[in-house]
Amino acid sequence: MKSIRIPAYGSADAMQIEDAPVPECGASDLLVRVVAAGINPIDWKIRSGAMAHGAERRFPLTLGWAAAGTVAAAGGDVSGFKSGDEVCFYAEFARGGCYAEYVAVDASQVALKPRTMSFAQAAALPMSGQAAWMALIETARIQPGMRVLIHGAAGALGSVAVQLAREVGVEVVGAARGAGLDLVAGLGARQVIDYHRERFETLARDMDVVLDTIGGATQEASWSTLRPGGLLVSTAIAPPPGRAEAAGVRGAFVFTPPEGRVLAELARRADAGRLQVFVGEEFALADAKHAHRLGEAGRSRAKMVLHVAAPASP
Ligand SMILES: NC(=O)c1ccc[n+]([C@@H]2O[C@H](COP(=O)([O-])OP(=O)(O)OC[C@H]3O[C@@H](n4cnc5c(N)ncnc54)[C@H](OP(=O)(O)O)[C@@H]3O)[C@@H](O)[C@H]2O)c1
Repeated sequence: MKSIRIPAYGSADAMQIEDAPVPECGASDLLVRVVAAGINPIDWKIRSGAMAHGAERRFPLTLGWAAAGTVAAAGGDVSGFKSGDEVCFYAEFARGGCYAEYVAVDASQVALKPRTMSFAQAAALPMSGQAAWMALIETARIQPGMRVLIHGAAGALGSVAVQLAREVGVEVVGAARGAGLDLVAGLGARQVIDYHRERFETLARDMDVVLDTIGGATQEASWSTLRPGGLLVSTAIAPPPGRAEAAGVRGAFVFTPPEGRVLAELARRADAGRLQVFVGEEFALADAKHAHRLGEAGRSRAKMVLHVAAPASP
């Protein structure tokens, strides 16, 4: 099968399209024929070695941790899925391998593809969608009437977060720029801040929750926007020890575990017309390195997707 592999951590130049064996389908796995693979910022962070610490990875390493496709085979212990099912998933980091024609993934991490979504959209949903859910629903436990500041509100994670928050009845303040400003307003944000022209920390006050998808100076400037006892939850970087307490608030870092149950809930909402995802640049599998260069340079429009194979004709 065709796959994008790297012989070692390194630059995008290290990414090669190579023939690789079709992965084994374990007892609790699904073997999926990949139609589209999602390209997430963590892909190039792992490829570069920036997240090598404490990770046992074997090389050559097939990249990619989110995809959509059709079930080619199901392990003996799997129930709820059958050959031919259209599915999507975010696969655990110890395995992954989604930039390939076939991938084996634990069935507990998989959900049926939303009927109303293309394979490209369904590949763009799993990782950032689950991260938004984990941050706002399961960590911050947002409630109606709360005020929530969302950084990167026009991004893949941020745009799902705005929609989840609106559905709970939260007052959303979203930070974005350019075309993202209208998108975030259109998703229901009460206030949209242009982070290139305005200082969000002077405009967003007494927030109950801040969703930090950026880190660095953005995280540091966010502490003062929280009400006493408020919560900053980051998907980018853990707050420095004691920093939240020093500001009289709380801080948390979210590392999203892949869970099919959460993805199934997001898919249900999508099919009910209550959740949208936005696909940006689309590439052929062989051009994956160009996508990584664009993403690393911060020049991608929205969630980038790799087209791996034509959908199987029913
Ligand atoms: N911890 C976890 O479990 C987890 C899971 C998924 C993702 N993540 C992380 O969460 C982050 C977002 O992921 P994503 O998939 O949503 O990426 P994305 O689609 O690239 O979105 C990032 C967004 O941030 C915006 N942005 C960049 N700098 C900004 C700033 N200073 N202030 C406000 N907005 C800014 C970008 O807008 P412009 O392009 O217009 O600048 C873009 O819309 C990444 O760091 C990713 O690694 C973590």
